[in-house]
Amino acid sequence: ATKPILKDKKVLISAGGTREQIDPVRFIGNRSSGKMGIALANEAANAGAEVTLVVGQITVLLPTHPQIKIIHIESTNDLFKTISNEFTQTDILIMAAAVADFEPETVATQKIKKSADNDEFLLKLKKTPDILKTVGATKKDQLVVGFAAETQGLLANAQKKLIKKNADLIIANNVATPGIGFASDDNQVTLLERDQDPKQLPKMTKNELAAHLIKLIATKIN
Ligand code: C5P
Repeated sequence: ATKPILKDKKVLISAGGTREQIDPVRFIGNRSSGKMGIALANEAANAGAEVTLVVGQITVLLPTHPQIKIIHIESTNDLFKTISNEFTQTDILIMAAAVADFEPETVATQKIKKSADNDEFLLKLKKTPDILKTVGATKKDQLVVGFAAETQGLLANAQKKLIKKNADLIIANNVATPGIGFASDDNQVTLLERDQDPKQLPKMTKNELAAHLIKLIATKIN
């Protein structure tokens, strides 16, 4: 059995991908499976935490642990509202969801049709709120953890996120490497903490990584 290293701690975790509506039948989504966030939720619950899991689109089963409360969301704005509401009653926030950076400026009320004289269709997008950055800026003694999925410039970009989002820990992974990251069972990440050199971890399963991260998070909060 896992040691109760997060006993009575309130942990808020986002997992999965967001969907930004284009019209009644279409959306902009991403390849997130939800595996990493769900593995973290299970591990935190097993370590004695009271977990709130905010989930978008996932390709795996939802956890059934009695100490995990589940809230479903669809869009980045839904997620923003939920995380903002829950954050004040939280000790640890882990943003593992793959969030859209842009959403359609307007949502068509009817299905968008093609026509004989239109060979192109332009969809205008506007920026979504940066959830981690916004709630990170209001944090008191909470621990804030983010992920950085990059296809290039991994460490430099992740380092920027640590500072910009006022986070305590950023888990950086290169999603361009086959066999790790999105949808796979394995992950290979580098950990970035404030005032510390980046730590590269070996390739491991997402469940093993979740166990490693929950231990690290427990030492940081206690
Ligand atoms: O800026 P970027 O999306 O690469 O940052 C990744 C981290 O920030 C992840 O933890 C992700 O869940 C979070 N994020 C967020 N709000 C956004 C975009 C990303 O909280 N709009």
